[in-house]
Amino acid sequence: MSNCLLSLKDITKIYPNGVVANKGITMDIHEGEIHAIVGENGAGKSTLVKMIFGMEQPSLGEIRLRGEPIKIDNPQKAIDLGIGMVHQHFMLVPSFTVMQNLLLGEEPKKGVFIDNNKAMEVTKQLSEKYNLYVEPTVKIRDLTVGMKQKVEILKALYRGAKILILDEPTAVLTSQETVELFSKLQLLKEEGHTIIFISHKLKEVKEISDKVSVIRQGKFEGTYNTFDITEREISKLMVGRDIILKYDKNPPKYGENILTVKDIEYENDNKKILDKISFSVKKGEILGIAGVEGNGQNELVKLITRLMDTQKGEIRLNDTLINNMSISELRANGLSYIPEDRMTTGIAGDGSIADNILANRILEDEFTNKGLLAGNKMKTKTGELIEKYVVKCSNALQKIIDLSGGNIQKVVVARECSVDLQLLIAEQPTRGVDVGSIEFIHHQLLEMRDEGLAILLISADLNEILELCDNIIVMYEGEIVAYFDDKAKVSEEELGMYMLGLEKHSPKNIRRAFNE
Ligand SMILES: Nc1ncnc2c1ncn2[C@@H]1O[C@H](COP(=O)(O)OP(=O)(O)O)[C@@H](O)[C@H]1O
Ligand SMILES: [Mg+2]
Repeated sequence: MSNCLLSLKDITKIYPNGVVANKGITMDIHEGEIHAIVGENGAGKSTLVKMIFGMEQPSLGEIRLRGEPIKIDNPQKAIDLGIGMVHQHFMLVPSFTVMQNLLLGEEPKKGVFIDNNKAMEVTKQLSEKYNLYVEPTVKIRDLTVGMKQKVEILKALYRGAKILILDEPTAVLTSQETVELFSKLQLLKEEGHTIIFISHKLKEVKEISDKVSVIRQGKFEGTYNTFDITEREISKLMVGRDIILKYDKNPPKYGENILTVKDIEYENDNKKILDKISFSVKKGEILGIAGVEGNGQNELVKLITRLMDTQKGEIRLNDTLINNMSISELRANGLSYIPEDRMTTGIAGDGSIADNILANRILEDEFTNKGLLAGNKMKTKTGELIEKYVVKCSNALQKIIDLSGGNIQKVVVARECSVDLQLLIAEQPTRGVDVGSIEFIHHQLLEMRDEGLAILLISADLNEILELCDNIIVMYEGEIVAYFDDKAKVSEEELGMYMLGLEKHSPKNIRRAFNE
């Protein structure tokens, strides 16, 4: 084809451990398009793009650039060919500044020394040219995830990338950051860049891409014009079955109040973040907190899980006040927490699956008796959990960071849900996770609710809220603005009105969330 920029011919990748991650993939990427690659966890998407970026070598098959067969031995070779990549897990140096990271290894020099003024100027120019604003002298570790991603993109562009690969870039972003990223990608496209974009979120794929290629279990399922294919059709190709995120729930069997939050207020820099928040979660109930992100949900969770100190109000677990409890005491009292940001707070990235899956129970009697017996018990337990939670991996000692997003999340869920617990706080538990894993996690939550657990589910995903929750509260600008009980049968549109602050329930109705 005339303007075919990059073509993959019959690419097969077999890892040294025998995993066949890609099987005979043939795919054409055209100049100036945004080309999405979709597929379930472990389908082989990252493997495929790693070969384009020279981090892995195909076992069989050929890569061609403008019709010429090429061998991309290493990332430097890819960069020389104008290929750049933004990784799923950023590869920046946290203690270096933005500028140092951007220019790393390619710094402007004055003699043998780095020319700092020039470096500053280059950074500014770059930032202006691509309309990606970054503060040159701030250290990477002080940046939000969204900013770090900008630095990664700029870094690739500075090195001359014409083809830009982004591996699940939105998995770590808030919805506002995603909107911003997409507008930047559009600009890059208009300037003639070609973008390869991996995502699990089909809505995003529909929104941003021109072409979509589907991979299922290492095999290529075709490339489509995004305009011509529906989300439903794409998800069918991805998993080979119809995805219906609808569940037949058993009627709830509520018990006593497990979590009681009363008149919580929270201020930061004189700004009211939370105002008179009161609600409770009962045994056997999934209470949902719906809301656009940034309306106080995250702070509320931090107060309940004791990551932040309560300023005003009471939080009780059963009847015990937990305002001053330590995190370990809380855990001992049966609280588990699936955090929103699994990469930084959910896992120990350099640990193995085994380390991570048992991290919260190392102190249990069963495992404290160090030595062979305990070691064997830990091994057995890890094996059981990997099987029960269907974590796709080569073995328990594999580094957790090498798993796909959905499988990492399954490890977090396994860890949090396999201990003796009474209250589970699940914060965006399926964000950035593929459809198959979403269903799996949802079924787990429903099962635990039926077994009598109290679950507080914080989610920006309305489908998730409506399908799983028995009762729903809506937060807007730090307040509870609505309460719907299981008989209310609220629709997605209606919830949206409350989430955007266009509607508000009477205080009397909202008070019912407190179960007085
Ligand atoms: N370095 C590796 N060694 C062995 N197996 C791997 C390695 N990296 C990935 N895999 C396996 O290859 C398969 C595809 O993984 P990956 O390309 O990361 O999928 P995706 O990005 O679509 O989630 C998975 O089964 C995964 O466990
Ligand atoms: Mg991946």
